[in-house]
Amino acid sequence: MVAGATGYAGRELITILRRHPGARIARLMSSGRSAKEPFPIEHSHASLRGPARRGGMERHETWCTPLDLDEVTPSDVDLIFLATPHETSENCAAALLDRGLRVIDLSGAFRLKDAGAYPRWYGFEHHAGKELAEAVYGLTELNAVAIREARLVANPGCYATSVILALAPLARHGWLDREAGVVCDSKSGVSGAGRAPSDKLHFPEVNENCRAYGLFTHRHVPEMLQALGLEEEGFTFTPHLLPITRGILSTVYVRLARQTNLDEIASLYRDFYAHAPLVRVYPEGSLPEIQPVAHTNYADLGFALDRTGRRLVVVSALDNLGKGAAGQAVESMNLMFGFPWEMALV
Ligand SMILES: NC(=O)c1ccc[n+]([C@@H]2O[C@H](COP(=O)([O-])OP(=O)(O)OC[C@H]3O[C@@H](n4cnc5c(N)ncnc54)[C@H](OP(=O)(O)O)[C@@H]3O)[C@@H](O)[C@H]2O)c1
Repeated sequence: MVAGATGYAGRELITILRRHPGARIARLMSSGRSAKEPFPIEHSHASLRGPARRGGMERHETWCTPLDLDEVTPSDVDLIFLATPHETSENCAAALLDRGLRVIDLSGAFRLKDAGAYPRWYGFEHHAGKELAEAVYGLTELNAVAIREARLVANPGCYATSVILALAPLARHGWLDREAGVVCDSKSGVSGAGRAPSDKLHFPEVNENCRAYGLFTHRHVPEMLQALGLEEEGFTFTPHLLPITRGILSTVYVRLARQTNLDEIASLYRDFYAHAPLVRVYPEGSLPEIQPVAHTNYADLGFALDRTGRRLVVVSALDNLGKGAAGQAVESMNLMFGFPWEMALV
């Protein structure tokens, strides 16, 4: 089941789940604010219009209803994707888990282990401490074993996914000069902000423009620090808004703890992601870009090293709605239900 079906991440989930041989969509739900009555999801997303042939999909797979937790039972739902705002997810998760359902939450509601961090970074008090403690951070490349058994998966943020994948091999193997700090310069397409219109996301404001925002305050910072074991003082993350619909490019600047060469760096990354079917490590001399990952579920990584062998730049690209949201959530579903990791994603 998909809650938040009328949103951008919801649309992406439905698209992937419809082609997934092991999944059947049991329910689609949204806030019910704009429509109190059930409506065909194609009224919200034209791309989800079914084929003209007779006997197509069943009504529950294509009609969207207002979110009603009483309608969700383990008799016809195994897993619910919450592609909803953070506070909605926080409010819903406990009731769903109590009912015996498994949950993958695409919001930030269960990503941070410290409930006390929520007021500062998310602007609300967290009241689901038990669920927060239980939640598994859904970065499949780092947490596949725990995800397989999880009842509640906190799907990572889109920027966070691009930065953590870029830095994890270095951070986990002690290659970072932590004193020197890390600088992450990230750029995202506008769909990363969701579907709700706003002045700052208005076409004339975004088109032919590039804007930095959220300096030192972006809410993906704490989950990056948590996953990488880094301190806030040595970590600078600056997101930018690009005049494109989807995609993220992160350029990450680090100083290494010791001198090395590109062959060693390449081996480190290839070994680290050898088990991960959706991470592509680029050969020397080529760097990831947004176009090759847009509309895919891949994360692409590449790097360049300076002549001293100490200054490394890692470039990371992914689709914010694919690997950065719905694709990654379906990866977790695949692990939780014993499907091949990349099923329906390549
Ligand atoms: N966009 C991305 O690239 C991206 C990437 C990673 C994670 N995420 C996260 O995924 C979640 C969804 O993001 P999005 O971009 O798809 O947002 P969106 O386009 O704004 O869609 C939000 C969805 O949540 C529903 N909703 C809002 N308030 C609700 C309520 N009180 N009860 C039930 N449903 C409610 C909306 O329904 P109505 O249409 O009826 O209002 C809509 O279906 C967010 O938590 C976001 O942070 C997004």
